[in-house]
Amino acid sequence: MIPPERVEFFRHTLGDDEAASWRQVLATVFLTLGPQVAAFERELGAFLLRDRVTGDELFGDRHVVGTNSCTNGLLVALRALGLEPGDEVITTPMTFVSTTNAIMHLGGKPVLVDVDPATGLLDPANVHAAIGPKTKGILPVHLFGQLADMRAFRALADAHGLWLLEDSAHGIEMERDGVRPGDLGDAAVFSFYATKTITSGDGGAIVTNDATLAERMRQLRNHGVSKAASDRHGGLYQHWDLVDLGFKANLTDLDAAILRPQLPRALAQRAAREAVDMRYRTLLPELAPSLFAQAPSAVSPLVTRVGQSTHHLFTVHVPADKRDAVLTGLGARGIGVAVNYRAIHTLSYLVRTLSIARGSLPHAEAIGDRTISLPQYPALTQEQQIRVATALEEALSS
Ligand SMILES: Cc1ncc(COP(=O)(O)O)c(C=O)c1O
Repeated sequence: MIPPERVEFFRHTLGDDEAASWRQVLATVFLTLGPQVAAFERELGAFLLRDRVTGDELFGDRHVVGTNSCTNGLLVALRALGLEPGDEVITTPMTFVSTTNAIMHLGGKPVLVDVDPATGLLDPANVHAAIGPKTKGILPVHLFGQLADMRAFRALADAHGLWLLEDSAHGIEMERDGVRPGDLGDAAVFSFYATKTITSGDGGAIVTNDATLAERMRQLRNHGVSKAASDRHGGLYQHWDLVDLGFKANLTDLDAAILRPQLPRALAQRAAREAVDMRYRTLLPELAPSLFAQAPSAVSPLVTRVGQSTHHLFTVHVPADKRDAVLTGLGARGIGVAVNYRAIHTLSYLVRTLSIARGSLPHAEAIGDRTISLPQYPALTQEQQIRVATALEEALSS
C-alpha cells in the first residue's frame, strides 16, 4: 500500500506571478534598496490604509521601511525609539525569541509579564502592574495573527510617557475593533519569513505614522549612512556620511519583487485560512473527542479568537504530560507540526539571564507546556484536515 502523502506544516503559494516579477529585477541596475523596495513600501502602506475614509480617527500616513527580517526591523525600531542600555521594555513570554533578543542586543532588559489564558495575548492589567521607573516602552505581540488590545496599551503608554512598539510578525491582515497594526503603536514590525502570511523566504518591514521616525529608521536599516547608493545614482559622485549607528537590515529588490504580487491576494488568502480554521473547529470535536476530554484547566483546547485574525497559526492544547508524545505521534503519522511557543523564560539562555522562576508566569507556562500548532495554510484541503484530526485522536489515545 502506498503511504498517504505527508501533510506539510506549511506550503507557500508563490508561483508564476512572483517568478515573473523577480525576473524583471534581474534586468535592472538595482538589486537592493531600489525601485522595487520603494514600490513595495508604498503598496504595503496603502494596504494598511485600505478602505479607510478621510476623517477616520486613524486616518493618516503610513510610512513603511522594508527590512531583511522582523528581527532586524525590531532592532532598527528599538534604536530609533531611543532604547538605551539598562532600559526596561515590558513584553510577553508567549512569543518567538527574536522579540527579546532584539531588546537584549541593545542592552535593554525585557520584563516579561503574564498573558491572558484564553487568547495568549499580553494582558494590559499585568503590564500596568509592571510599569516602573526604568520602563521605557511596551512591546505587545499580535500572537497567531490576533491584534493585542492596542487601545488599552496606547492608553497605558500615554499615561506613563512610554513608547509602544508592535511585534506584528504574524501578519499584515489583522484588525480588532477597527484597529490595524501600526494604527496606534509608534511603530509595528512585520515578518516575511518563509512560513508567514506573505513571504520572500526572509524579509520584514516597519510601519509608522511618524515621518521623522520613519526617516531615522530608513537610515538605521542601512548602517546609519546619510544616503543609500540608489539615492546617489545618476548624478555626479557625492560623499555620503555616517550619521547614526545603524544595522545592515535592508530589504532587497529581489525580495520586494516577490512580495508585491502577494499584496493584492492577501485578503483572499486570509479568508482561505479562516475557512481552514472553521473546518478544524467543526472536525476536531467529531474526530478528536479526546482533545475535549482533557482535565479541566485554565487552558481550553481551542484558543479563543479576538477580532479579525490573520489565521497565521492554528493551535490546540493537549494535556501537558502527553504533549511531546503527541508531537512525535503526529510526526510519525506524516503530519507536520510545530510548537508556538514554549514560554520563552523557560529556555536556557533566558533562564540564565532573566532568572524568572517557573511558576511566575503561570498562564504562559500552561499554554507553552500544552500547545501544538497544526498545519494551517490556504491550500490545505478538507481531506488533509480530516487526516490531521484523525491522527491527533490516534496520537492522543495511544
Ligand atoms: C512573534 C514573532 N516575532 C518575531 C519573529 C521574527 O521574524 P523574522 O524571522 O522575520 O526575524 C517571528 C518569526 O517567527 C515571530 O513569530
